[in-house]
Amino acid sequence: MNEDKYLTFALTKGRLAEKTLALLEKTGIFCDELKDKDSRKLVFENPDQKVRFFLAKGPDVPTYVEYGVADIGVVGKDTILEEGRRCFEVLDLNFGKCRMCVCGPESAREKLEHHEMIRVASKYPEIARDYFHNRKGQTVDIIKLNGSVELGPIVGLSDVIVDIVETGSTLRENGLTVLEEICPLSARVIVNQVSMRMQNERIRKLISDLRAAI
Ligand code: PRP
Repeated sequence: MNEDKYLTFALTKGRLAEKTLALLEKTGIFCDELKDKDSRKLVFENPDQKVRFFLAKGPDVPTYVEYGVADIGVVGKDTILEEGRRCFEVLDLNFGKCRMCVCGPESAREKLEHHEMIRVASKYPEIARDYFHNRKGQTVDIIKLNGSVELGPIVGLSDVIVDIVETGSTLRENGLTVLEEICPLSARVIVNQVSMRMQNERIRKLISDLRAAI
């Protein structure tokens, strides 16, 4: 193990980062600097433990890890699937649990079943494309949106949406329902492929400590 080298983590800003830090604390890794909620700082270090953290937007986490500027990333499975970056997915942290689903008004169910040419709005065009084109063999028109995707079927932009469902209350409050489930989601640990070789012992220990702390 190279004692002089920092282990760098890219964390998804917000609740995922908070939960990850709480879990890391259980394994004995601390970064008090990161707990200051008013801070606008983006890079934090604990020189004693040779760990460095930075906070990034979810979709950028796999990018930092693929390019090796972060050894380790913590990010939702939805983002891993959508971004398609080259990194190792090594651990399911079992929090941030939700589902990726095809949702819409009940009236869209028949169109889905009959493989009609439908419009699908989503923040996750790659996941939608993979599901409809590769898994279902159904040709659909995919429209990328950036949020409040539930609006799509309500205002008539699309027939259905592909989106995350957690409690289901956003769907309920907008008269929509889950029509098909694509996959379960949760927070995952990803590792840079070179770091996995170069810092193997340290990273393997971290993974096993995290697994024990979940
Ligand atoms: C996510 C998702 C749904 C909602 C699901 O949106 O896109 O809209 O949460 O959660 P629920 O099943 O518990 O209601 P987010 O809050 O991230 O905002 P966005 O719509 O702007 O993407």
